Amino acid sequence: MSAAAGLRFPDGFRWGVATSSYQIEGAWNEDGKGGSIWDTYAHTPGNIRNNDNGDVANDHYHRYREDVALMKSIGATAYRFSIAWPRIFPDGTGAPNRKGLDFYSRLADELLGAGIEPFATLYHWDLPQALQDRHGGWQSKDTAKAFADYAGYVAGQLGDRVQHYFTINEFRSFVDMGHRGADLDIGGGKTYHVSIAPGLSLSDAELNQVRHHAVLGHGLAVQAIRARGRAGTRVGFAENIRAAVPAIDRPDYVKAAETATRELNAPFVTVMLEGRYTDAYLTNAGRDAPRFTDEELRTIASPLDFVGINVYVPDCYVAPSDEPPGYRVIPINESHPTMKSGWHIVGPEVMYWAPRHVRSLWGATPVYITENGWAASDVVADDGKVYDSDRVMFLRACLTELQRATAEGVPVAGYFHWSAQDNLEWNAGFGNRFGLIYIDFKTLERIPKLSAMWFREAARRNAVV
Ligand code: NOJ
Repeated sequence: MSAAAGLRFPDGFRWGVATSSYQIEGAWNEDGKGGSIWDTYAHTPGNIRNNDNGDVANDHYHRYREDVALMKSIGATAYRFSIAWPRIFPDGTGAPNRKGLDFYSRLADELLGAGIEPFATLYHWDLPQALQDRHGGWQSKDTAKAFADYAGYVAGQLGDRVQHYFTINEFRSFVDMGHRGADLDIGGGKTYHVSIAPGLSLSDAELNQVRHHAVLGHGLAVQAIRARGRAGTRVGFAENIRAAVPAIDRPDYVKAAETATRELNAPFVTVMLEGRYTDAYLTNAGRDAPRFTDEELRTIASPLDFVGINVYVPDCYVAPSDEPPGYRVIPINESHPTMKSGWHIVGPEVMYWAPRHVRSLWGATPVYITENGWAASDVVADDGKVYDSDRVMFLRACLTELQRATAEGVPVAGYFHWSAQDNLEWNAGFGNRFGLIYIDFKTLERIPKLSAMWFREAARRNAVV
């Protein structure tokens, strides 16, 4: 049976693309926007490769109409974008800035006019600098409360047109890399150190408290969005889940992979879906464990309408073990090839296992793949086109695995490719290209890549092609 005939997704499956405000908008100081911690961080020489920054980025703020038309032309039926908190509340709290909100209002209208469903992320890392200055940002519970106020305000204002909200994007990334710096495993026992805004180096106890404040902010925001949104408003989170893949598809390995996934996500996904920190997490943290109340745990686990997971590569492969914690992590050989971001090109099967674990561990339904993508250094060919065959291979491999999950009844409602367009890849600058649409960062010309054609065909047929 050919792939086109066989590998179909369920009816109503969303074919989405994703971006975030700081990475594409530009207009960093226009229409009353306040500064964010990313403006500060990127304006500090040496923090970002080539000293790139998001001052102009893709100039999406001014070109959103063209960008929506392009999304439509490549067949997207849903768009996950983020709202810049400092556009809405330049000081983090206080009086809202009408012009900032108007931008997202115009964007929502444009999307709906193009038949594209808007999915809004409320926090994709661009914290108002004022909150960092006032009380150390997420180090204070006040930021969690301010976030809920902002989230509720946006849902109240846009709820007539935007039904789906993600509270926070990638807790693990912005908390751990921003407040400690993280050693990313690049295989063979080697790591490389990444630090992002606000660029702090907190102690274990302080870091665990920031983690707690982030999930608390999520829970408070869920409640605020429900209180101020409309009847059809839906809310969830988008987390880069640490998905453990069983080295062999056999029940004892699968059990080990589920156990590992639950423990590896203890400070974020697990507490948000279970309302408790795992015993192992608290025991390992010891005196550095976060301080919390039972009421906070109940807030953190406020019921959700869906779970969003960003899935790129497996966190690890595992085998069962008779010793606690019941699994053994199998490292990836250093010689295994990597994509441009340095991430190992291991296992598209993570696209099968990650949503399956989310369903089997927590009964979550539906699940959205809120990000999945490929970093490359794409080039424009002599004929003016961009032939990103590596991204096409990646897409086909990943979506084949995702389709396997849906065919087995794992309730995945949609897929958002990261990214709609090349953009500012945080510390890596503009060089790590993730887009289906190429951006010439000198002229700001947009060119749909080969992968965009692949995406359009897959969306049209609702199948792997
Ligand atoms: C994670 C983040 O959510 C997004 O901002 C980033 O650009 C991509 N994944 C790729 O690293």
